[in-house]
Amino acid sequence: MKTSWLVLAILALAVAGAGGTHNAAQVPPSSLKSIELPPDNAVATLKPGPGLDVVESNCAICHSTDYIVRQPGGDAKHWEPEVRKMIAVYGVQLSEPDVQTIVNYLGTEYSAAPVAATPEAPKSSTRQTSPALRNSSKATDHR
Ligand code: HEC
Repeated sequence: MKTSWLVLAILALAVAGAGGTHNAAQVPPSSLKSIELPPDNAVATLKPGPGLDVVESNCAICHSTDYIVRQPGGDAKHWEPEVRKMIAVYGVQLSEPDVQTIVNYLGTEYSAAPVAATPEAPKSSTRQTSPALRNSSKATDHR
C-alpha cells in the first residue's frame, strides 16, 4: 500500500515537471521560421563606405534607415550625439568601437543634406514660368 502511494506521488511529480517545461522545451526547431525583410527603398539604401555593415546591423533594427538618410547631415560632431541618444534614450546596445565606426561612417557619407529631400526641381520650374506670368499680368493691367 505504501509503495503504491509513493509511485503515485512520483508519477504526479513527473507529470507536473513535464507540464512546467512544456512551453519552453517542446517547441520543435522545425516550427521556427526565418523571414526575409524586403529591401529598403532606394532613397533609404545606405551609401557604400567603411563601417556600412556595422550601421546596417545596428541602426535598422527599430526603424528604417530612412531615419538616417532624411536627416540634415553633418560631420561626426553632428552624428555622435544622435548615436548616443539612440543608446541613452532608446536603449541601443553598442560597444564604444562600434559607436566610433558608426559616427565616422555617418559623418563621412551623410555629411550634407540629402539631395532627394531638397525640392529643387519644382522651385526652378516655378521660377521659369514666373516672368511669363508677370508679363501676362502687365498686359491686362489697365492703369
Ligand atoms: C532600440 C531601437 C533603436 C535603434 C536600434 C536605433 N534607433 Fe534611432 N530611433 C529610435 C526611436 C524610437 C526614434 C524616434 C522615433 C520617433 O520619434 O518617431 C529614433 C530616431 C532616430 C533618428 C531621427 C532623429 C531623432 O533623434 O529622433 C535618427 C537620425 C536615428 N534614430 C538614428 C539611428 C542610428 C544612427 C542608429 C544606429 C546607431 C539607430 N538610430 C538605432 C530607436 C532606435
